[in-house]
Amino acid sequence: MDLIQLLNQFEADALAAIAAVRDAATLEAVRIEYLGARQGKLRDLQAELGKAGKEERPVLGKRFNEVKGRVSESMEQRKLALDRPTVVATGVDISLPGTSVRLGKRHPLTQTMDEFKEILGRFGFTVADGPEVEDERHNFEALNIPDDHPARDPLDNFYLATAEKAAGGPRLLRSQTSTVQIRVMENSSPPVRVISLGRVYRPDTIDQTHSCMFHQMEGLMVGESVTMSQLKTVLRLFAHAYLGHDVHIRFRPSFFPFTEPSVEVDMSWGEGGKSWLEIGGAGMVDPNVLAAVGYDPDRYTGFAFGMGIERFCMRRHRIPDIRLFYGSDLRFLRQF
Ligand code: PHE
Repeated sequence: MDLIQLLNQFEADALAAIAAVRDAATLEAVRIEYLGARQGKLRDLQAELGKAGKEERPVLGKRFNEVKGRVSESMEQRKLALDRPTVVATGVDISLPGTSVRLGKRHPLTQTMDEFKEILGRFGFTVADGPEVEDERHNFEALNIPDDHPARDPLDNFYLATAEKAAGGPRLLRSQTSTVQIRVMENSSPPVRVISLGRVYRPDTIDQTHSCMFHQMEGLMVGESVTMSQLKTVLRLFAHAYLGHDVHIRFRPSFFPFTEPSVEVDMSWGEGGKSWLEIGGAGMVDPNVLAAVGYDPDRYTGFAFGMGIERFCMRRHRIPDIRLFYGSDLRFLRQF
């Protein structure tokens, strides 16, 4: 028999032997018999190969490697198959698919805030963060809200009794995200273009549209020639990006201690602008505020806006009650 035939024979025998194996120990015996390095059958064939003529050797060598590869591969496969657990006597079929895990999702308000950040990011606004427990300087004083202003009434704010004696004066849960304007301006020089999103707290009576904790987005842009028309443009572009092109925006004169002039911002969707929704306040940063953070009010101007986030999200998804956001009811949350 020539060597090619011997190799073919070896391959056929080895594969048959492997297929017939029923346990790991037998498989190991088969491995030693056929592929063993010291006295295996393949080793003997390799010795024969050494004696072959020069011209035959490349062909024989190729076939040898093929056979060796195929038998080793088959051995591996068989080993894996034998290692795999089989259905056991308990009747549990472990090859059945398991119970699927339900993945969590981002809260609808978080989704809304992420989208707001993305939209305003396109206009060059970066995101700033501030603490929810604030001092009176950042929540009121630097924002030009004087001591006797009704917004400072302890009954309209969540003052923290325990922090009263702490150094730096009384603390309260911030009632607006305008606090972050001050923090940003204290720590950087113009030009400034930031937004800040987060929770604010007011002792409101809770109903369908009011909660004593809700979310605001604050925007602030300060520079050497920032104007009110830029404010309107930014808000309009924002409204179009979030709500679509059939959105109208309008300013109504208003008053905030930290902006002058101040406006109330309304938006309306479709229906030829019939029903307006109040979405927040805005205005040109009051020179007193700029001075309070060490900016030169003769050199810089700025605009600021603040708006409720829940309202946008409720409008977009037709959510009828603000309390649904905070109830942790999975039947509600899973819809987003
Ligand atoms: N902070 C104001 C509020 O909570 C909104 C506002 C922000 C108004 C910035 C003007 C400028 O009602």
